[in-house]
Amino acid sequence: GVLSGRPADLAGRRLVISAGGTREALDPVRFLGNRSSGLQGYALARTALARGAEVTLVAANVALPDPAGATVIRVESALEMREAVLEAVENADAVVMAAAVADFRPARRSDSKVKKTSAEPDPIHLVKNPDILAELGERRREGLKPYPQVIVGFAAETDDVLANGRAKLARKGCDLLVVNQVGENLAFGRPDNAAVVLVADGDPVEIPRGPKEDLADVVWDLVAGRLA
Ligand code: CTP
Ligand code: CA
Repeated sequence: GVLSGRPADLAGRRLVISAGGTREALDPVRFLGNRSSGLQGYALARTALARGAEVTLVAANVALPDPAGATVIRVESALEMREAVLEAVENADAVVMAAAVADFRPARRSDSKVKKTSAEPDPIHLVKNPDILAELGERRREGLKPYPQVIVGFAAETDDVLANGRAKLARKGCDLLVVNQVGENLAFGRPDNAAVVLVADGDPVEIPRGPKEDLADVVWDLVAGRLA
């Protein structure tokens, strides 16, 4: 199959991967969400398993089959994802945050369905969600164990993609930042992807457009190198 013939260079490694996109509830039936399909995170999980890793997949709102052999933890919101990721990274060697985590959530979640009234609708007030990736980087910087040895982020950027990515890598304190150019159906819900991996202490690695498994393998090559 498409996943055979890979090296077992991640054997014995414990990896945590987040995938999908969080949903931030407004009421029992409505939420604020995003367009992440989870395909890239699931490709990361399948390729890591094929290379011998032990994989915990923290999945937010995906409609994809569980990769055989992965421990899958399903979450809905950014707060739930934070809890699940922080617990999963205990004893993990590396974490890859491929999920699209909502930056904000509604300040208040209504217990009952919001009704349409004759009055003008209320504005939706938002509060900031915790930044899970930055929190992991901060824990490592401060030596607050446990934290994973290797920390990888993803970023979807428009405009000056590389400059934005460099600034984000520094801000988040991660080792690798996989930067996609978004817009015009360039990444979301597609089986293929193109990216540049920014490396905290090295040269960027360009990944030409191809299957999301190929991008995943380049990420794992870089992670395996840092774990060696
Ligand atoms: N991320 C996270 N927690 C958040 C927001 C983002 O862990 N609350 C992670 C994502 O999973 C991704 C990385 O941070 O790996 C970059 O996400 P991105 O949205 O590009 O970065 P932000 O810092 O939120 O910056 P902005 O949206 O303003 O570009
Ligand atoms: Ca964001």
